[in-house]
Amino acid sequence: MSDTGAKLRGRIEPPTLVAIREAANLLRAGDIVGMPTETVYGLAADALNPDAVKKIFAAKGRPADHPLIVHLPSADHLPRWAASIPKDAVALARAFWPGPLTLILKRTSDVPIEVTGGQDTVGLRVPSHPIALAMLQVFDSGIAAPSANRFGRISPTTAVHVQEELGDRVAMIVDGGPCEVGIESTILDFSRDVPEILRPGAITADDIAHVIGRRPRVRGEAAPALVADNAPASPAPRVSGALAAHYAPRTPLRLVEPALLVEEAVTLAGEGSRVAVLARVVCNPQDSRLIWQTMPTESAAYAQELYASLRAMDALSADFILIEALPLDADWRAVADRLGRASVGAGVRDDPPS
Ligand code: TXA
Ligand code: MG
Repeated sequence: MSDTGAKLRGRIEPPTLVAIREAANLLRAGDIVGMPTETVYGLAADALNPDAVKKIFAAKGRPADHPLIVHLPSADHLPRWAASIPKDAVALARAFWPGPLTLILKRTSDVPIEVTGGQDTVGLRVPSHPIALAMLQVFDSGIAAPSANRFGRISPTTAVHVQEELGDRVAMIVDGGPCEVGIESTILDFSRDVPEILRPGAITADDIAHVIGRRPRVRGEAAPALVADNAPASPAPRVSGALAAHYAPRTPLRLVEPALLVEEAVTLAGEGSRVAVLARVVCNPQDSRLIWQTMPTESAAYAQELYASLRAMDALSADFILIEALPLDADWRAVADRLGRASVGAGVRDDPPS
């Protein structure tokens, strides 16, 4: 633990107070670090330091006009970042923070445009992961953090995933264990006339309606669950989670109705393809040519395992990943959204253009 000698970049550190302080110091010095949250791991930088924020975009290969979420130690920090805070936003922050809800609000002039992709709004959330909260409390300011994956790829839900994605592009990675929620936060836009969910997550439209007494608009709700691109009615903010091709494995991926899953897998295997299947309720046909994994039947448990399973399946270098299509119920919406986008972007073996 000596401070002499160069420490290896990209190393994973257990979440001790020493490591948390070191991470906060690295952030203060303008470096970037891997940070656990309850949703997915984040790629963290000092949100008030434009040069540090630029390092995030460089490390991810992400276009500079895609805004970042700023993580706060508590709702008490809101006034520094948000110029106007509607009372419904306050009520939601009280109800769901710390937790997987991001609020899009008008930004103050303190917020660098590098963070907001040039927009006049900022995404804010207080994460509930104890290590993220500890880092934020020690840092005592806003931490900008997108998911710690290369642009367009599968979000990381363990420290090792971050290392695989970013290697020594990050100074260090604080290990907070596997993420509990497993998919990214719900994004709720308060910057326009009606609150609108831009990205579904663990906190649903009904959860929000329960607190504010009205149902938010949900982008793309009228359309089928697995649409490619949801064109909003009015000019909408840019949300990289809204790109059709996102969260994508390199192996071609198809969503298949439960009734057709075995038949399609067996047919492809019969043609000589290596097929990996992510099933849910369909039983394993015990065909030795197939790589078969059964996912949890409940949506929250499924979400928690989703990205790690996709990553593991992708590592098999199969010719196809077949995924059992999900129920259409509201509690599957966030997972279905991620799988729909993964299937659109899948099969691109080189890094996507940024
Ligand atoms: O759960 C999460 O939200 C994770 C963890 C690390 O907190 N973060 C995350 O960040 O998913 P990222 O950058 O991968 O996705 C954030 C999304 C992007 O699609 C971005 O475009 C959108 O939030 N976003 C951020 N600020 C915005 C703004 N001002 N207006 C509209 N969308 C915004
Ligand atoms: Mg992301």
